Amino acid sequence: TTIASALKESTVASSTEPITINGWIRSCRRQKNISFAVINDGSSVRGIQAVLSKGLDEGLTVGCSASLKGRFVDSPGKGQAKEFKVEQVELLGKSDAETYPIPNTKQGVPATVLRRNAHLRPRATAAAAMLRVRSKMALAVAEHFDSEEFVRVEAPLITSSDCEGAGEVFRVESGPTAPPPPPPSAVSPTSSSPTSPPPPPPTPRYLTVSSQLHLEAISSSLNRVYTFSPAFRAEKSDTARHLQEFWMLEAEVGFLDAENPTALEQVMDVAERVIRSVTRRLAQTDDIAYFKTQSPALAAQLDGLSSPQPYARLTYTEAVRVLEDYVSTNPSAFVHPVKWGLSLQTEHEKWLAEQHVGGPVFVTDYPTPMKPFYMLPNPGCAEGRETTACFDLLVPRLGELIGGSLREHDEGALREAMRRHGIKEEDYEWYLELRRYGTTRHGGFGLGWERLVACLTGLENVRDCIAFPRATEGSRF
Ligand code: 4AD
Ligand code: MG
Repeated sequence: TTIASALKESTVASSTEPITINGWIRSCRRQKNISFAVINDGSSVRGIQAVLSKGLDEGLTVGCSASLKGRFVDSPGKGQAKEFKVEQVELLGKSDAETYPIPNTKQGVPATVLRRNAHLRPRATAAAAMLRVRSKMALAVAEHFDSEEFVRVEAPLITSSDCEGAGEVFRVESGPTAPPPPPPSAVSPTSSSPTSPPPPPPTPRYLTVSSQLHLEAISSSLNRVYTFSPAFRAEKSDTARHLQEFWMLEAEVGFLDAENPTALEQVMDVAERVIRSVTRRLAQTDDIAYFKTQSPALAAQLDGLSSPQPYARLTYTEAVRVLEDYVSTNPSAFVHPVKWGLSLQTEHEKWLAEQHVGGPVFVTDYPTPMKPFYMLPNPGCAEGRETTACFDLLVPRLGELIGGSLREHDEGALREAMRRHGIKEEDYEWYLELRRYGTTRHGGFGLGWERLVACLTGLENVRDCIAFPRATEGSRF
């Protein structure tokens, strides 16, 4: 029996037959004739209180694994309706309470200590709850997308393309490093003959930064598709929002409206619906109820994400205008300057979501020069004010949660954009070819999974939103 299912049954009646609970001891408080231990098996947030008479508690220390046989009885103490009266104990794996890195203390173990002990971190209440949240999120996404007739597909993790063109790729080397070339004297004359030129250098291969380009290929047949996979970026940003290995949920849809504003809205609607649906589903879980007790602002944040009201939508140009207005009366509000043509920094993004809107907000139509080659430009822009049909979803406390866009669907225009970005067309012929055979107006987005975990749990650092965080070397966190 798991604790979660035993608790459900025990709310109806105290158990008559003894049951066995296998778990880890989270704390053990010894009194004169009786001991109280909290045991958890990972199925519930707080575990259960076990009551042991003198002698039965021998060897039970924080961190040990044990098998407790007993019955649920009404608890005379405050804080729980039922307690587990232990009749028999089997100590399975002992634990040295003196050296155990994550003791159960009032003030809790600092996040930095837990991160250094990532292998034991899942024993901490919040980390275990976060892992159950991730699992339920994936299920909620799968069910939501299935209900909208999206097909889940997989893209390769090893690829020769740098989708975002930001040069933040990890290069993949295959096999052991090649031996050094032989000295010139050892080279036979035939091997240097003009008839056998040296082979061309192998195409470099990288870990994927985004599955988008391959997702577009599959979308050009299955239309409504999504993928959920790791992404890798050699990020130098050492912030609470960046990882070098993170998970991304990406979706792609075709046959969009002929007008950019409504086509982009169709893509934003897909993103908005998946977030709303996942948030609603998760808000009903015990784990999120626990996180609400840990973070006072979380309830309002969840209300914002699950609200039936459409999320606010602003163009970049409007966003810059409201930021400039704010700066004109609060000159020292931000560290970074605000000006049309400059990127929005996290401090601006947070202000827009937290102060200006008070909830999630889509910012659309960013200036073309700051965006990757594949994004579809907006028609009819004034010179020097060119924008693309793209969006970021900004959320309170975090800033960017999603990035998405319409894709350039015309082969000639895409070649042109690649040349402007200094991208070698020959490396992307397959991607260009998608435009030659039955192109459609299409678009999609990518959502940072750990950032969504942070939104739903109130955890402040994405390093605490994945079991084994891989972040910048020498990180200050
Ligand atoms: O905005 P990004 O770079 O967009 C893309 O990669 C598109 N190709 C996606 C698409 O359209 N299919 O990344 C998407 C999201 C960001 O909004 C952010 O939430 C997350 O991925 N992200 C990161 N999360 C954690 N650590 C990092 N280093 C991240 N970089 C991006
Ligand atoms: Mg982005």
